[in-house]
Amino acid sequence: MKAHEFLLLRRIIKDQSGFNLGPDKQDMLEARLRPLLKDYGHPSIAHFTLAALKPDAYRLRARLAQAASIQESYFFRDKVPFHYFIDAMLPRLMARRQSSRHVRIWCAAAATGQEPYSLAIEVAEREAQLQGWTFEIIATDFVEEALEKARQGVYSQFEVQRGLPVSLLVKYFKKIEKGWEIRADIRRRVAFATHNLLHDCRELGRFDIIFCRNVLLYLDDEVKRAVLARLAAQLAPDGYLVLGAAETTTGASLDFAPVPERHHGIFCFTPAARAREEARRLRAETSSASFLQAYAASR
Ligand SMILES: C[S@@+](CC[C@H](N)C(=O)[O-])C[C@H]1O[C@@H](n2cnc3c(N)ncnc32)[C@H](O)[C@@H]1O
Repeated sequence: MKAHEFLLLRRIIKDQSGFNLGPDKQDMLEARLRPLLKDYGHPSIAHFTLAALKPDAYRLRARLAQAASIQESYFFRDKVPFHYFIDAMLPRLMARRQSSRHVRIWCAAAATGQEPYSLAIEVAEREAQLQGWTFEIIATDFVEEALEKARQGVYSQFEVQRGLPVSLLVKYFKKIEKGWEIRADIRRRVAFATHNLLHDCRELGRFDIIFCRNVLLYLDDEVKRAVLARLAAQLAPDGYLVLGAAETTTGASLDFAPVPERHHGIFCFTPAARAREEARRLRAETSSASFLQAYAASR
């Protein structure tokens, strides 16, 4: 790959996914482009680059950014967020949601599904204590192939050996020819959808917990600020934001503070941001209540 081709492709990838490819990643990109050249019938990277620059090559540009991204994930990654989910987040949120008995969780860069399924397993493990509650787990990623694998819920021996205790493997997975298949009831607990973090996410609604782990580290500061602002707008005032253990909101958002236990990568709103979010929610509820009253009066 020529240096100018790398610069052009790198620019496209950044615009599509926010992924800031370092100058040392030229060989990696070249290797990942090979299957795409074949799929699209381009004889060389020069042809591919020209095709990707065409104004209407939306699909090709999206495929390029997807090919450059990293889908590394494993079950119960870093452990602490999953312990904190059970020991602190759920009890605190459930105490305040006695009337709705509903908790919404978003895994915003879910890759091949290990993270949302780890949460679903945690919930399933406490079925009896959580009777009468519903947990909605929505898992999104911008790579359709990764989501397809997640939907199938079939993992190799290597994948199940990373992070998944044997007791949970035998309880929630079935050995099949291709590997290990997750139980259908666990699969049904997670809804998968395509979503790019650079795009508007309001239609997904409000969440009590957002996991967005091990993706912000690939983004530059400006993109990271925009993504965090979008996530903040979708988080309940008393909700939790969970990033990767090496990721932080510091320098990219004034809305978040570490949780009182100061676990790496786990945040809640600062008191000021929480008050602002509560006021915003109240305004939205009041305006929809007065709309309904006016509508009822007009009939
Ligand atoms: C390293 S994986 C992390 C998976 C999982 N959250 C974990 O921590 O194990 C990063 C994921 O972010 C996704 N990703 C990267 N850029 C994205 C974007 N702009 N929108 C949505 N997903 C993105 C990648 O496709 C990949 O699946």
